Amino acid sequence: MKIIKDIKELREFRKALACSVGFVPTMGALHQGHISLIKKSVKENEKTIVSIFVNPTQFLEGEDFEKYPKRVEADRKICELAGVDVLFMPEISDMYVSIEPTILAPTQKAYILEGLRRPKHFDGVLRVVLKLLNLTKPTNAYFGKKDAQQLYLIENLVKSLFLDTNIIPCEIVRDEMGLALSSRNTYLSESEKKEALKISKSLKIASKEIIKGNKSVKHLKGIMKEVLEPLKIEYIEIVNREFEAIDEIELKNSIILVACMVGSTRLIDNLWI
Ligand code: PAF
Repeated sequence: MKIIKDIKELREFRKALACSVGFVPTMGALHQGHISLIKKSVKENEKTIVSIFVNPTQFLEGEDFEKYPKRVEADRKICELAGVDVLFMPEISDMYVSIEPTILAPTQKAYILEGLRRPKHFDGVLRVVLKLLNLTKPTNAYFGKKDAQQLYLIENLVKSLFLDTNIIPCEIVRDEMGLALSSRNTYLSESEKKEALKISKSLKIASKEIIKGNKSVKHLKGIMKEVLEPLKIEYIEIVNREFEAIDEIELKNSIILVACMVGSTRLIDNLWI
């Protein structure tokens, strides 16, 4: 596996490739969720590039940019074992120039849910994803469904800017207890981890209700709230796959999304119905 830090070197490497290229963008602290994306890419493409870049522009003032977990050596080993061809780890100063074009995520979809609590977060995500896609020019790029709104906005970015990349949505990976894997889970104490299980439990209970035929969004949100309390709920929302509000679950076209604070850690999870 090649480690590339230099942008020029990455571009030369990419230019020389005349085969399918898979790309998995990450912010490091890799876990089984990332590994499943990487393995899928390795299986489906002749070459796989993984990036590790903790992108400052997607963090808001007071968020965890400074303390975001860093495990470079462990991440390197994970990538090597998974069959990655290039691990791209650029410097912040190389990724951003002093005068940058403004890239704004569409307000009607980027300032709801996550974007309502984290304004401008998706502007930063789309900006870095566009840069990374331009550098790696992948045939296929892999994103987890856990960041459902991010995935939607990236699909929209690629479609609207006619980028030549297929966005491949990947399933959420959970631990044996049901907690959706996230690099931020490393912030949780043992007791907080137990508390955090209420999140996946609330989604499971909602899915059981839907199987019983209870599709009212109001009803589902009510029972989820009961399961989640006393966690500090940031939102429980049920939308269609265009991220529009709905009153009734539309099978194969709905997403139930939850964001909660567990101690001082903000966790999100969702279920695609
Ligand atoms: O999902 C993430 O880890 C990040 O938002 C991404 C896509 C790597 C962009 O920084």
